[in-house]
Amino acid sequence: MLFISENDVRKAVSIAEVIERVENAFLHYSRGLIQVPSRVTLRVRDENNDAIFLVANYRSMPFYGIKEASSFPTNMLKGKPTVMSNIQLYSADTGEPLALVSAVYLTALKTGAASAVATKHLAIQGNVSIAIIGTGVQARTQLEAVQHVKKLKELRVYDIDKSRAKKFAEYAENNKNSNYPIIISTSANECIENVDVIITATTSTIPVFDDEYVKRGAHINAIGSFTPDMQEIAEQTVVRADKIVTDNQEETWKVAGDLLVPLKAGKIDRTRLYGELGDIVAGKLPGREREEEITIYESVGFGALDIAVAVLAYEKSSLLGIGTEVNL
Ligand SMILES: NC(=O)c1ccc[n+]([C@@H]2O[C@H](COP(=O)([O-])OP(=O)(O)OC[C@H]3O[C@@H](n4cnc5c(N)ncnc54)[C@H](O)[C@@H]3O)[C@@H](O)[C@H]2O)c1
Repeated sequence: MLFISENDVRKAVSIAEVIERVENAFLHYSRGLIQVPSRVTLRVRDENNDAIFLVANYRSMPFYGIKEASSFPTNMLKGKPTVMSNIQLYSADTGEPLALVSAVYLTALKTGAASAVATKHLAIQGNVSIAIIGTGVQARTQLEAVQHVKKLKELRVYDIDKSRAKKFAEYAENNKNSNYPIIISTSANECIENVDVIITATTSTIPVFDDEYVKRGAHINAIGSFTPDMQEIAEQTVVRADKIVTDNQEETWKVAGDLLVPLKAGKIDRTRLYGELGDIVAGKLPGREREEEITIYESVGFGALDIAVAVLAYEKSSLLGIGTEVNL
């Protein structure tokens, strides 16, 4: 079995390859070529610590696999990482374990790539201004992936922690792929006002901006809300958006506070969800149809994508002689 470390992943895969695999996984899922059972979430010892298990079984590739992600906020007090993740890949021919992939960075790449695919199909055409709210780990790969599919006119960033926003702006300055201005905003509303593509990558439990600042024609990638009590998107924006798209409808109605909170309050019903991104990629549903539409991609995490990018890391590592062979 090949052990692929965080460093190995960084050496083995590029954002362009990850975006291609993620878009392909959306397509294959829509065509019924990937079986994705419901996720299992374990609340570990009632301390707000969760272990999440995502599984996918490919019919279009000789692999199946499982991703485990530990979200342990209390680790902050112990000086340990709060999020850890790994993916085990198995051969669909023999059932043998093929790889153990350390997947913190790979998850961030995958999540960025999914936003890039959503932006490609749902944002307005041409160059765009971008706002990123929440400038932690995910923000970097969100920017890397989205600027791969869209040319930026301007980047605005905001975080409740000003030092994080400043650090991220420095990172963005050193990693931009064209010449656009980068602005550190003093509020979330200032950050998103008149912006074409809004990315929320926070751990917030209350909406991070007010609806009136969302311009007509805006596209939002909401990636942070993954429990029923987490929210990033203003409820009124959820009510008035023209299209709300998700990675996986079943999981969304179990975990996405952005939709579940207004649903419980009777402000929306389940028909608010337009459909899955895979069906747009496959051409079964139209993406953006009008310049002035407001669109939202609500991302909750989806095993089909994680296993697809783990296969990429395994194939590239095997090809390039990266990783460590381990005998079980
Ligand atoms: N959708 C997916 O597939 C997926 C994948 C990975 C992570 N996530 C989720 O994305 C979120 C962000 O992850 P991360 O690893 O970047 O976390 P992080 O802790 O590194 O960064 C989160 C940032 O958000 C900021 N923040 C919190 N509340 C805010 C608010 N109200 N306004 C502005 N900024 C605020 C924090 O200061 C921090 O800088 C988490 O909830 C994580 O679970 C989702």
